[in-house]
Amino acid sequence: MSDFILVLDEGTTSTRAMLFDREGQCRDTESAALDQHYPRAGWVEHDAAQIWDRTLACGQAVVDRAGGPEQIAAIGIANQRETVVFWSKQTGEPLGPAIVWQDRRSAALCRTLRERGEEAGVQARTGLLLDPYFSGTKIAWALEHWPQLREAGDDLAIGTVESWLVWKLTGGAHLTDASNASRTLLMGLGTGRWDDGLIDLFGVPRGSLGEIVDNAGDFGAADAFGGSIPICGLAGDQQAATIGQACLKRGEVKATYGTGAFVLANCGASPPASRHRLLSTVLWQLDGRRAYALEGSVFVAGSLMQWLRDSIGLIARADESEALARSVEDNGGVYCVPALAGIGAPWWEAEARAALTGMSFSTTRAHIVRACLESMAHQTHDLQTAFAADGAPWACLRIDGGMVANDWMAQDLADMLDLEVERPAFAETTALGAAMLAGVGCGWFDGLQAAAAMRGNAERFRPTIAPDAREKRLKGWSFAIETVVAAAQ
Ligand code: G3P
Repeated sequence: MSDFILVLDEGTTSTRAMLFDREGQCRDTESAALDQHYPRAGWVEHDAAQIWDRTLACGQAVVDRAGGPEQIAAIGIANQRETVVFWSKQTGEPLGPAIVWQDRRSAALCRTLRERGEEAGVQARTGLLLDPYFSGTKIAWALEHWPQLREAGDDLAIGTVESWLVWKLTGGAHLTDASNASRTLLMGLGTGRWDDGLIDLFGVPRGSLGEIVDNAGDFGAADAFGGSIPICGLAGDQQAATIGQACLKRGEVKATYGTGAFVLANCGASPPASRHRLLSTVLWQLDGRRAYALEGSVFVAGSLMQWLRDSIGLIARADESEALARSVEDNGGVYCVPALAGIGAPWWEAEARAALTGMSFSTTRAHIVRACLESMAHQTHDLQTAFAADGAPWACLRIDGGMVANDWMAQDLADMLDLEVERPAFAETTALGAAMLAGVGCGWFDGLQAAAAMRGNAERFRPTIAPDAREKRLKGWSFAIETVVAAAQ
């Protein structure tokens, strides 16, 4: 009897293999960092071969410790979305670097398309906007600038990270799940199929794209770990986290603070239409039927702490930020707009750049670090306003991701959102969601509702801030963000 599910959690900064049992307990983990390449300002690349090699090594270590592939019932994959990989169907080798979701190189193309009046049609068909974040304009840019892709002809395969890994794990199955496909600018949101008009608009060869499949099912056997293990769950990491937080009913909403921060609200069986610069996206597809989410994407969250530590040296370790934030009474008038990779929802200014405002001679390192942490709640508050204006107000926010281990930040979110915030005891909801999908796909559970028993208890944070202190913060942030947005226009 196979007792475990192996989850491959492919984040932006690391790859992880995790072992889950039927009760949702994580029994083992192995992880490896991914090298980040920044060849020019605004460009971010990964080495797809490294993603594969490190996935294989982490997966193998966990499978070996579990007692071999026969102990594993199924594999579930959750992945950084939008990042695009180009490879040869013949050799299975990459034909260029992977262009990462944070990469801004197609900003000029997005502007040109917007000026041509394409955005309304693209939004109506895909639920997305014309921003370099999504895969479509990254693919168009690569096809124009990398001759080897054109020369490859029918040998060219294009896919997001789960698609690349399924190809490698199975030795040549070319598919992508509906949640990942819905982030490419190439899939019709209402149809769940590649859209010929969009494929033409971005000049993508039809044969380079894989088949769009459900998020749970039997997607082929992975022979890579010394035996045959079925791949039964696939999802973009933010959709996986929404499932892992058991946001299975309309109106339930989660925010994940990882490299970036992503808020997704379950919107049921019809695609929502945002009028306030949010995204509509596939939450899951099961038996060909889709559930949708409204999403607010924030590009910089945990990566801000990394930047403070690795580039600026303001903190030695990310967890030092909590003690520093607590060491001062307030932010001392300092606000941080962390637009290190442009600014996402609801502003969408690809060329915006970060700012620290309000500093004086009395400003200390602690004020700056606190302002950086506060920017998480401020960015989330902007999303809360946009969701409410789109008719999707939040009743409670379920939070997760590496940053929310910080109690101060969890409380600051409750205070600034003026809302109850719920933090699960087991914060790796992305991996849990992939395990739930794989559990459905391999027959452990007869649906997501049953699989949700894998989710454990949660802790609640309630607002305690004085109303005038909250107002002051919101005002200070408005001034800072509006200055940054105006400078980019
Ligand atoms: O859309 C990008 C997102 O999937 C990245 O996720 O976990 O690396 O912040 P993460």
